[in-house]
Amino acid sequence: MPSRKAGNSPVMRPFRALDRISEWSWLDNPAKTVRGAVSTMLPGRRLRDLLHGVWLGHPLHPMAVQAPIGAFLCAGLVDALPDAGPGERRVADSLTTVGVLASLPASLAGAADFVQTQPDQQRTGLVHATANSAALTSYLLSLRWRATGRRTAAVTAGWTGLALIAAGGVLGGHLSYHQANGANQAEDVRHIGPQEWTEVGNVHELPDGVPTRRMVGEVPVVILRNGEHTHVLADRCSHASGPLHQGTLSWPFGRGGAPCLECPWHGSVFRVSDGSVVHGPATATQPGFHTRVVGDRLHIRLR
Ligand code: FES
Repeated sequence: MPSRKAGNSPVMRPFRALDRISEWSWLDNPAKTVRGAVSTMLPGRRLRDLLHGVWLGHPLHPMAVQAPIGAFLCAGLVDALPDAGPGERRVADSLTTVGVLASLPASLAGAADFVQTQPDQQRTGLVHATANSAALTSYLLSLRWRATGRRTAAVTAGWTGLALIAAGGVLGGHLSYHQANGANQAEDVRHIGPQEWTEVGNVHELPDGVPTRRMVGEVPVVILRNGEHTHVLADRCSHASGPLHQGTLSWPFGRGGAPCLECPWHGSVFRVSDGSVVHGPATATQPGFHTRVVGDRLHIRLR
């Protein structure tokens, strides 16, 4: 019988179970229904950009959830005081109200992000949203019972909501840290991209007005020659690594304005001159490169 080496012993990974959620393909149909409903509810691009956090340069949802979580946690602690009097009860009631109200923008931001994620992320996202919706229902019941003097039922509903919020939070953390939803997928370019001038080819061989992919070391870049001007950005979209060289060139500021590149996966729009985000769901600037032409050779280095 082969001996088992210490390094081969099985390792317990309790959170491995969370990975399975992203494999539940039976969630795809409900996810599609929710996607359709959210798209109808949030029709305007400006509104969606606001909810994604384009204006912040950072995803809004993980910041917005701090307010309801804080309020609900404090309400639960005040409810747990053994000798709570009318004053403490009023504080707990107010904190619950604040939590419910603060849940609205947090939920809308999460819903906007949900629509533009990959299918495996949507499965986890759907379970995350279900836990949070159940929590919100518990808190609404808690508020109702607080108003009608059913203190024990109200407190129990509040604590149930808190437990559901915690479960939803674990799933949200898994979605962000394990499935990289909301992470800046182009951040590595700043670490492994060329710090020194590096040649990428003959500038005259680049088609005019057509995004073209080249490899620079280990970094794929998209080059756009626009007459005399050449712009270079990292090719993998900062939102979810979509291939920008397959994207569409557009002029959202008019024909005389800055040319932009629209990602083929979820439609983020980046200004080709500096990689800044014009429309989400991306919130992180696309890494860009300085360019120079020596003879007929195009050289680039990280901006
Ligand atoms: S990968 Fe989602 S917008 Fe580019």
